[in-house]
Amino acid sequence: MARLLLPYIYVAKKRSGFAVINKAVIFRTENSSNMTSDIRILMCAPKHYDVDYVINPWMEGNIHKSSHDRASEQWEGLYHILKELAIIDLVEPQQGWPDMVFAANAGVILGKVAVNSRFYHKERQGEEPYFKEWFEKQGYKVYELPKDLPFEGAGDALLDREGRWLWAGYGFRSELDSHPYIAKWLDIEVVSLQLVDDRFYHLDTCFCPLSGGYLLYYPPAFDFYSNRIIEMRVPEEKRIGIAEADAVNFACNSVNVGNKVVMNKASDELKKRLNRIGFEVIETPLTEFLKAGGAAKCLTLRTTEPVKEDMHANLPVESRTISLEGHLLDSGLINRALDVVVEGGGSFQVLNFDLGKQRQSTSKADVKVSAPSHDIMEEIVSELINLGAVNLPEDERDARLEPVVQAGVSPDDFYVTTIYPTEVRIEGQWVRVQNQRMDGAIAVTDSPSGRVVQCKLLRDLQVGDRVVVDVQGIRTPRKPEVREQKQEFSFMSGSVSSERRVELVVEQVAWELRQIRDRGGKTIVTAGPVTIHTGGGQHLAELIRDGYVQALLGGNAIAVHDIEQALMGTSLGVDMKRGVAVRGGHRHHLKTINTIRRCGSIAAAVEQGVLTRGIFYECVRNNVPFSLAGSIRDDGPLPDTEMDLIQAQADYTNLIQGADMILMLSTMLHSIGVGNMTPAGVKMVCVDINPAVVTKLSDRGSVESIGVVTDVGLFLSLLVKQLEQLTEPYKLATV
Ligand code: ARG
Repeated sequence: MARLLLPYIYVAKKRSGFAVINKAVIFRTENSSNMTSDIRILMCAPKHYDVDYVINPWMEGNIHKSSHDRASEQWEGLYHILKELAIIDLVEPQQGWPDMVFAANAGVILGKVAVNSRFYHKERQGEEPYFKEWFEKQGYKVYELPKDLPFEGAGDALLDREGRWLWAGYGFRSELDSHPYIAKWLDIEVVSLQLVDDRFYHLDTCFCPLSGGYLLYYPPAFDFYSNRIIEMRVPEEKRIGIAEADAVNFACNSVNVGNKVVMNKASDELKKRLNRIGFEVIETPLTEFLKAGGAAKCLTLRTTEPVKEDMHANLPVESRTISLEGHLLDSGLINRALDVVVEGGGSFQVLNFDLGKQRQSTSKADVKVSAPSHDIMEEIVSELINLGAVNLPEDERDARLEPVVQAGVSPDDFYVTTIYPTEVRIEGQWVRVQNQRMDGAIAVTDSPSGRVVQCKLLRDLQVGDRVVVDVQGIRTPRKPEVREQKQEFSFMSGSVSSERRVELVVEQVAWELRQIRDRGGKTIVTAGPVTIHTGGGQHLAELIRDGYVQALLGGNAIAVHDIEQALMGTSLGVDMKRGVAVRGGHRHHLKTINTIRRCGSIAAAVEQGVLTRGIFYECVRNNVPFSLAGSIRDDGPLPDTEMDLIQAQADYTNLIQGADMILMLSTMLHSIGVGNMTPAGVKMVCVDINPAVVTKLSDRGSVESIGVVTDVGLFLSLLVKQLEQLTEPYKLATV
């Protein structure tokens, strides 16, 4: 163990009330043979301490609410206890820097090296030079982080008591990007932990390594991944997870020397737990300091930490630089991207931001992303790719391909596709991926006739295919989103409507439908049985008759209900004209199925003159293809219903090819299925009376889908009426 021999001991100037401080030094000389003389702790007297500003939630409502006398008394209480356990050094408090009392934030020390803090808040930045001066005077080699890279010292850096690694917090005060510097300068492995509860904004407020490899901590203060890291490093029997009641008393903010744990306050239960494993809890009230968000540990900086000679820097923090282009501010893209980074457990630094000068000009940002591990980096980067981010040219690499060794099973870590047009870099060339869809893998198939790069479902992967794994060499370039015209409803706004605005949407959908039909485009409808119950059947039939629908997708139910209505005037036994159940009506449903089964198919029923109106009648008459996907609850089913779901998915996929617009009418499952198969760029209108369904369906992270919360029957009737109005002047104009 390398120990630092300090050339100099700071002796506080004798001041009334602090005479005791000089005794501390005497204590050391008197006890120089005592084992405690190994351990040194730096403190700063609360001469200028007060709550002068708010930089953490504890300070809120506490400005100038702490008593100077009581604070001094409490500080001395702690001081007295600690001086029995260690040598206390003091740094001179400075007027105007009230938080300087929290010496833990001076920096972090290991062996002969000190890393000076860079405070996040300007309210504390003035403390930096005083701490630096103190470190230098003691003979430490002092390292300073680049400006604008916050790191708040031992508040966010706690040595494993065995000296095996340094636990480092980030998320509020210290930046993840500071960790590689710390690792290098202190030459120790740094384990990064993300803090997620702003009451526990420094690592030492919720995490306290104890002798013997024990750990006192408050698990909810950390994100999921960090908790996993903690669990992997500290065996269960050594982890002392505390309850919130203890955590808010700053029980984790303890000073541990040997088997003594000095803290503000602990519940009886916690004391018992610690006693049982051999620790003695010493409570000393520090309530005046809690008002500033600190307690025992914050008031101290341990300057003698065990250095393990065989431990060296090893930090998995990874960085990558990505670039984003588009209407970054107006579209909120930059915020979304940075949120992805932070919520994903990483941190970022914006290296360049070229703000577009005009309303129409796009902006460009280069962002350095750091993540505490390769896995986390992959997750973050794949989400950024999905937002349209690209690697900087110098960072560009070919996509990584791995062979499929078992048909229908991908190599692990495959990139999961989205609805966005995707390109992969193969042998230095960017290649556009075919058959874009969501939730597939990108498969590269080489054959004598050439190379195909396409989205494949896992089940379609063949031995011999190679699959894109990892996240390098993949991009989903976007056209800079066309700026939205000022209009209440537009396909560009990706919004969900309320009842009041339904008519506006209907006008727009009608306009689109007409445009698509007239230019020979393709509109697909997916419809559920509610379409019939709500009286929308006749309107949908009319749309089909008038050539507005190029394919119809649904399940067994929509067809049975439509045909029941056509044959018997009821839908699930309810008289559609009068809205009442008819006697024996519940049998209509099965009779309908039976009738069609006798005919052989829906088309056969039309040919035989059995089925003479309705949605499916119009489909057959107008050669509009349909596909009915079966399910476990289907009655019958109709001969047309495809009960092989893999086949049904394939049929849907075929019918969707080349679609311009999809109307999703009150059928959540079929619509979700369709949504997954459909690449970005296809307009989608989701109509459902349930707002949750609409939100779910129209949330494609894309601008081209709109949701309409309304009764589907009403929607269809308005739509048909609107189309008639559009057609009249149109007819006149063409005459
Ligand atoms: N008011 C101080 C701040 O917000 C409290 C610092 C507490 N120190 C600590 N190591 N947790 O910065």
